[in-house]
Amino acid sequence: MAENNDSDIKKWSGRFNEPVSALVERYTASIAFDYRLAEHDIQGSLAHAQMLAAQGIITQNDLSAIEQGLKQVGDEVRDGRFEWSLQLEDVHLNIEKRLTQLIGDAGKRLHTGRSRNDQVATDIRLYLRASIDEINHLMRSLQWAIVNLAENHTETVMPGFTHLQVAQPVTFGHHLMAYFEMFKRDTARLSDCRKRVNQLPLGAAALAGTSYPIDRERVARSLSFEGICENSLDAVSDRDFAIEFCACAALMMTHLSRLSEELIFWMNPAIGFVSLADRFCTGSSIMPQKKNPDVPELVRGKTGRINGHLIALLTLMKAQPLAYNKDNQEDKEPLFDTVDTVIDTLRVYADMLSGIQVNPEIMRNAALQGFATATDLADYLVKKGIPFRDAHEIVARSVRYAEHKACDLSDLALSELQQFSAAIEADVFSVLTLEGSLNSRSHPGGTAPEQVRAAVIGAKSWLSGEKHV
Ligand code: ARG
Repeated sequence: MAENNDSDIKKWSGRFNEPVSALVERYTASIAFDYRLAEHDIQGSLAHAQMLAAQGIITQNDLSAIEQGLKQVGDEVRDGRFEWSLQLEDVHLNIEKRLTQLIGDAGKRLHTGRSRNDQVATDIRLYLRASIDEINHLMRSLQWAIVNLAENHTETVMPGFTHLQVAQPVTFGHHLMAYFEMFKRDTARLSDCRKRVNQLPLGAAALAGTSYPIDRERVARSLSFEGICENSLDAVSDRDFAIEFCACAALMMTHLSRLSEELIFWMNPAIGFVSLADRFCTGSSIMPQKKNPDVPELVRGKTGRINGHLIALLTLMKAQPLAYNKDNQEDKEPLFDTVDTVIDTLRVYADMLSGIQVNPEIMRNAALQGFATATDLADYLVKKGIPFRDAHEIVARSVRYAEHKACDLSDLALSELQQFSAAIEADVFSVLTLEGSLNSRSHPGGTAPEQVRAAVIGAKSWLSGEKHV
């Protein structure tokens, strides 16, 4: 990018006595990052110019020149030939200047009835709308990866944890489908946020609207916005749509971070439930035995910065009086980084889950430790007429006894179990097995294999677009 010495810098306009210093020029410029909005800026300018011509505000000849000039600018940007200038401050002024170089006075007429304030708000909304669509598309691939994995593990038993202590047996498929549900809500949230992103600010001009006979509905239609921002002051100033997006992204990353934490834990050699393909791990420069789960660790780590971006935008907005303030230029870097991080994370995640290796034997053995079926024994006693609190105490004592003998409840003889309650009969062993425990939880949302199979079928039809939630 072309940089300037103090002596090269021109003053902003005839209203000013002196130019800004080189430092102020660099400090106030946004071109180093907002060049990324170029494609959307051109898209918005085209729609604006077409409306100006349709309303007789500019001539058809001017419109044709603008269309042809913007096409050339777009080609130059795409091919990397466009020369961005720091002196021209931002993407809007860079493009307009180049357009004017190419087509003369018609280029200078493009900005009629418009301000950079409504222009930038439009650009960000167009950018964010496209980003949301890409994120939701990638999220779908990740959900497919989860459902496919869950489908292979509807009967794979693992210990379900509370407080990270063995609680009750669950199926690995059920565990995975919990994340499917979280991600389904994440995409629903984003789709809802998209409606508020998808409103047109153009026409608000600097803050109060414009005296030209513009047609905002026409611009909205040609840019596929669902409607127009109804108040010009609000249209140019608020960035709540970007904040809302960052909040959705923070929740999505939070869910991905939770799953990452589990993958890291499951991959610990002392646990060994899963292993990740080597391409998602790295070794240690000093400890030759190490295989580190770098990718999930970074997902967990990057969640912190996404949360930070949300706070940055909230803080950016909180004290701004109406209408536009330059503070808003600071919305872009957090927003861009949020989009980039979420997109990269989703891309790598779907691939990582598809390549995961699951160790059902190890999971099963872990479920056999820690008295995972103790609640089943309590429920068995309740069904024999014992009040739940008494049943709880009977089982607690049985567990202590089995713990001393270093065996599972299902390894105790019937006579040993009967020491704790005469209500225990030979049929108790069917509830003490892992499969007995799983199969007994057979209601919608439960962990029984048949329920997990049904959840997988429902998820697949939702993903195929047959069922919308
Ligand atoms: N680069 C500016 C931004 O990102 C564009 C709007 C400038 N408007 C102004 N009145 N200085 O917000």
